[in-house]
Amino acid sequence: MEQPWEHPDWYDLHDTTWTAGPEREPEHYRELVLALPPLDRQDHVIDAGAGTGKLIALATRGYPRIGTVTLVEPNRAKLERARARVSEYLPHAEIIALERSLGEAQSLPQTQATVVTIGSVLMPIMELRGGSLANGLTWLRAALRELRAMLLPGGGFYDAETLAAPWARGRLDEPVRRLCMSELTTELAAAGFDSVECVYRFRDRVVIKARRPAE
Ligand SMILES: C[S@@+](CC[C@H](N)C(=O)[O-])C[C@H]1O[C@@H](n2cnc3c(N)ncnc32)[C@H](O)[C@@H]1O
Repeated sequence: MEQPWEHPDWYDLHDTTWTAGPEREPEHYRELVLALPPLDRQDHVIDAGAGTGKLIALATRGYPRIGTVTLVEPNRAKLERARARVSEYLPHAEIIALERSLGEAQSLPQTQATVVTIGSVLMPIMELRGGSLANGLTWLRAALRELRAMLLPGGGFYDAETLAAPWARGRLDEPVRRLCMSELTTELAAAGFDSVECVYRFRDRVVIKARRPAE
């Protein structure tokens, strides 16, 4: 069958227009914050791959009474920036900064969070690590198991991702690529999350909500 981009009209419509660029990021992150449940003193939020804290800063501005925040980020300078930002918005909260990576068998929090957030980490890092799609999935599966294990039973997982373009191709033995929605939601279910739901989508930008089952 002819690929869609071989059609001249499809090509003219889609060329360089499909990807929701960086100008969409504020809306993307805001929609994740709007998907969160009410957060207060009893809540412990873990932001994984916190970077300089863009996402968690938005969440803590919205919920200034959050009791505990844990930041997980392998880059020390970014982690310190994120810690400083969150401290500014939550002067009374306990803030824990962990210089750690997902998917590398490092020591990470276990059964602690009421909410885990993750913003633009799983797909880009899977892709940046290189190797085959099979290698990428091995890392992603380990990371998802760790993220689920951070949550208390019944806790919520909120993930802002930028997915594969519709024309992305590649089998397991081919170079790693981002996943499409059905592939990612299948991975979340296989990692033991339930209630997996897309709560926002604009082209490649999505917010997925899921839950560690209540025991
Ligand atoms: C695109 S940035 C997103 C940062 C942040 N979540 C935000 O809201 O802007 C991806 C982040 O993932 C971090 N990172 C890289 N490898 C990681 C890993 N294995 N586990 C967790 N985070 C990782 C990078 O250092 C970077 O800060």
